[in-house]
Amino acid sequence: MKIGVSGASGKLGQAIVAQLAAMGAGEDVVAISRTPDAVAFGLGQDIERRAGDYDDPALLASAYAGLDRLVIIPSAEMRPGIRSRQFLAAIDAALAAGVGHIVLVSAMGTRKQEEPHIIAPYWIGEQHLMRNAPAWTIVRMNYYAESFADDARMAADAGVLVGLRDNRVAYLSRDDLAAAVAGVLLGEGHEGAIYSATGPKSFDGAERAALAARFTGRPIDFMVVPEDQLRASLTQAGIPEELANAIISIQSDYAAGNYDIVTGDVERLSGRPPRSLESLLASMGRIEAGEAR
Ligand SMILES: NC(=O)c1ccc[n+]([C@@H]2O[C@H](COP(=O)([O-])OP(=O)(O)OC[C@H]3O[C@@H](n4cnc5c(N)ncnc54)[C@H](OP(=O)(O)O)[C@@H]3O)[C@@H](O)[C@H]2O)c1
Repeated sequence: MKIGVSGASGKLGQAIVAQLAAMGAGEDVVAISRTPDAVAFGLGQDIERRAGDYDDPALLASAYAGLDRLVIIPSAEMRPGIRSRQFLAAIDAALAAGVGHIVLVSAMGTRKQEEPHIIAPYWIGEQHLMRNAPAWTIVRMNYYAESFADDARMAADAGVLVGLRDNRVAYLSRDDLAAAVAGVLLGEGHEGAIYSATGPKSFDGAERAALAARFTGRPIDFMVVPEDQLRASLTQAGIPEELANAIISIQSDYAAGNYDIVTGDVERLSGRPPRSLESLLASMGRIEAGEAR
């Protein structure tokens, strides 16, 4: 069986390739990226590599040839319209290549949204996949715990972690998402399923601020701000418009409760419980290991 990982050079892609290799499928893996030779997977075995670019359908056709299963990892592209086009190109190339089972990494709370909302391309990609692929699985990810660590570091200077209202988020580590995706790629019985990959606990604003303070060693409080104030402060900080739109989209989805979902899907798919946010932060910083659960 040939299993393609499209977006293999990124952090999630590398983690999925490593999981597949750890599960004994390294010889089946085809690592696809725009920069196939740039990554040393460091797995002690050769991984087949192919060039593939979501913006180059002809190259995708050769990248996906002969694959039995394929996971499509979204690019980090934020310009409106581009990621939607990339999802459609990747799915169409996989269908044309006759890939038997397509797995799409999508986002929590995906629903009909218009650009530039960050969810819009996921909606378009999911719908196209469901309508056209003979066998598909969607794995929707919660917000990365690693990205929360970045948010905490950025919040430390201002002393506040902001939200559009109080809300809860069930942060998920990248490795746990990778393990869940690998479980789908190597497993059976996942056709037509939409999984929600989440961490084990949902944190409200005050809990997040307390964790961010322990992680950074600096005082941080949670503060609710209106959307126009958040946008103005992002503009004032010199954040480019596309990134500001992404941050506001995510914050409005947080506020709507779209990330306040805890499921057993990671454990069901990977065979292991997802790591707690405290444990991940402890491995990265100042939170004492004894405080991690
Ligand atoms: N839920 C969350 O908290 C959260 C946070 C951050 C990101 N995300 C999403 O999750 C995705 C994966 O995360 P990550 O940490 O692995 O991101 P990452 O390390 O930035 O990896 C992004 C991947 O996209 C590939 N890529 C970019 N443009 C491409 C193109 N035109 N054609 C083909 N591949 C292209 C890159 O490969 P090459 O440049 O080598 O081609 C790379 O492999 C991100 O792209 C983003 O959509 C989610």
